[in-house]
Amino acid sequence: MLDYKGIHYKTYPEVYEPAEDTFLLAENLQVERRHRVLEIGTGTGIVAITVSRQCRTVVATDINPHAIKCATHNIINNKTYNVELKEGDLFEPVVGEKFDLILFNTPYLPTSEDERVHDELEAAWDGGSDGREVIDRFLDELIDYLNPEGRVQLVQSSLSDIDKTLDKLEKMGLDTCVTAREKHFFEEVVVITGILRDSN
Ligand SMILES: C[S@@+](CC[C@H](N)C(=O)[O-])C[C@H]1O[C@@H](n2cnc3c(N)ncnc32)[C@H](O)[C@@H]1O
Repeated sequence: MLDYKGIHYKTYPEVYEPAEDTFLLAENLQVERRHRVLEIGTGTGIVAITVSRQCRTVVATDINPHAIKCATHNIINNKTYNVELKEGDLFEPVVGEKFDLILFNTPYLPTSEDERVHDELEAAWDGGSDGREVIDRFLDELIDYLNPEGRVQLVQSSLSDIDKTLDKLEKMGLDTCVTAREKHFFEEVVVITGILRDSN
């Protein structure tokens, strides 16, 4: 059993093991007590459990069925009662719903065809040839799921074009900036935060 700030959790071999990017997001949340939160790609559920202690309710999703099983175990084991888990691709499990804060530690690594191993764990890091395949699909749908003045916080790498994400969010009507960054050997990992501008 592993521990993160009092959260006891286990991982499964088919599930992304919490790493620096997980903790960068968990430690830089811009959440309020009144918020209804969506976390896409919850993995072990560590970020969902962390944010659930600071907000009203959380819906946490993942495309990987092993992640849903693993997160269910960790959520129950940590007596977390305000997190609901749903399996599916991006926003598909929450069609028609709205949230105050949407979180996603994205699969952001550029991956060529010959690097693919075609297992469930691959969805944790495979961002397609430019690292943006899932990020761009996420950004294309995001606006429909945000409440007025809603926020997004996503994690990505300098390898998958941070400026493109900032630019897209600005064009969608969000005030955007990099709110946390961490240098690694061959990349910089960042948390990008966007807040929907007041349309009045
Ligand atoms: C980098 S891991 C992050 C896991 C966890 N949130 C953390 O920070 O440790 C990305 C997660 O997103 C999930 N994922 C990838 N593509 C997805 C998609 N299209 N829809 C939902 N989840 C997805 C993966 O299965 C994986 O659990």
